[in-house]
Amino acid sequence: MDMLKICCIGAGYVGGPTMAKISQKCPDIRVTVVDMNAAKIEQWMTDDLPVYEPGLLECVKEARGRNLFFSTEVEQGIREADIIFISVNTPTKTYGVGAGKAADLKYVERCARMIAEVSESDKIVVEKSTLPVRTAQSIKRILDSSSPDGVRFQVLSNPEFLAEGTAMTDLEHPDRVLIGGETSAEGDKAVGRLASVYRRWVPADRIITTNIWSSELSKLTANAFLAQRISSINAISALCEATGANVDEVAHAIGRDSRIGPKFLKSSIGFGGSCFQKDILNLVYLCEHFGLPEVAHYWEQVVQMNDYQRRRFVTRILDTLFNTVSDKKIAIWGFAFKKDTNDTRESSAIYICKSLLEEQAHLSIYDPRVGAEQIYRELGVDADCAQVTIAKNPCEAARDAHAIAILTEWDEFKMESLDYASLLDSMQKPAFIFDGRNIVDRKALRQMGFEAYSVGTGD
Ligand code: UDX
Ligand code: ADP
Repeated sequence: MDMLKICCIGAGYVGGPTMAKISQKCPDIRVTVVDMNAAKIEQWMTDDLPVYEPGLLECVKEARGRNLFFSTEVEQGIREADIIFISVNTPTKTYGVGAGKAADLKYVERCARMIAEVSESDKIVVEKSTLPVRTAQSIKRILDSSSPDGVRFQVLSNPEFLAEGTAMTDLEHPDRVLIGGETSAEGDKAVGRLASVYRRWVPADRIITTNIWSSELSKLTANAFLAQRISSINAISALCEATGANVDEVAHAIGRDSRIGPKFLKSSIGFGGSCFQKDILNLVYLCEHFGLPEVAHYWEQVVQMNDYQRRRFVTRILDTLFNTVSDKKIAIWGFAFKKDTNDTRESSAIYICKSLLEEQAHLSIYDPRVGAEQIYRELGVDADCAQVTIAKNPCEAARDAHAIAILTEWDEFKMESLDYASLLDSMQKPAFIFDGRNIVDRKALRQMGFEAYSVGTGD
């Protein structure tokens, strides 16, 4: 039998790591990752990958050139493949109907049209990007209406549940793999074929098969539930600050209830990342579209609470720094939306930095994985902006600063990783620390002489 060929369109945070894992686990499958972004493809062929993920480089190196390939030849990749994954980005629409809420499907549609145009043999087309419910149906309609006679397509929904920063372990040991397919004999066959790829390393009882719409909706719902937990604990953090309770203690106590569980109860400056906000807004848009305004309002509140949490953090800095940060230097530690990634999409740090800049603060920003250019771009400022400097390490950022704001929970900011006593010496006095991730020991820092604040503690 011929070697099974997989093509993945989109070499980003989802497509790259997922295909690296599949090719590592299935040496008998030829995996080609294609992207129209030539610079990105070029970078995937070096040891300086465009995506930072612990363990990713090792995995790529094992398979690259053996059965894992990167290419800009999108059409050729499609033509040769038996299974095509669509892993392109689906940002929130910024224009027209549904602007600010609905998913922009132009990249997905472009892929579907190209697949229809260039395919010469039957294909299984897999939606991997997070898409609104019923998108698979639209993809199928495009494929069926514009493909040559005799070429048949099966569309599957196979959402990715990996979290950035832990992508490689999530892919290695997924809680579940979800595959949605058409309810027909051909649909079942296609589902079985994709399942057999995952079966090489994922136990059978972790592979769930559903109809397409359940699969699509499960992805949105999983992200909505996870984000809802964070907004719930963040809502309680505001009450903790007002009452003297401690949100980490509350989270610990409620998390011991097996019905609640301990995960996703970490109060912070609000969730970021490319998925949570986008998927909830998508859900809200769908509910509105289907005439369910109460359901739409319910979920919209999760995003509003997240905005509130970001605003509250900025307000706390302002209130504490005697109501003004104008011309004060603030060290910003961490810009990525969480640790162990170089991704800054929807990072709360962007909102917080922009607000501080509006208040005329001077920011000295340090992140171990995010480059200067990316920070400038996200903040919408030029490299010569006098208000923003990029530091090479946390100490440089904090030198002569009035305050430090910890915005990402990188391990190198923890108490055991840094000499906080000498940091204190190098700062303006009183020296403030605002821990937006609750990773440092507030009491120990106070004893040293810092004025330290964390999220969800009133004292
Ligand atoms: C999320 C989902 O977890 C994943 O299953 C899906 O495939 C994509 O979206 P991701 O956005 O990569 O993954 O990271 P995640 O770990 O979920 O964190 C999202 C945001 O929530 C981060 O900003 C993180 O700092 C924040 N967060 C997470 C909290 O504030 N508190 C928590 O307890 C957990
Ligand atoms: P995600 O987090 O969903 O993986 P990314 O933005 O990291 O999103 O990656 C999506 C990738 O898809 C980008 O590198 C982009 O260039 C690529 N892409 C988008 N549309 C197409 C297309 N029609 N053909 C090839 N690549 C595409």
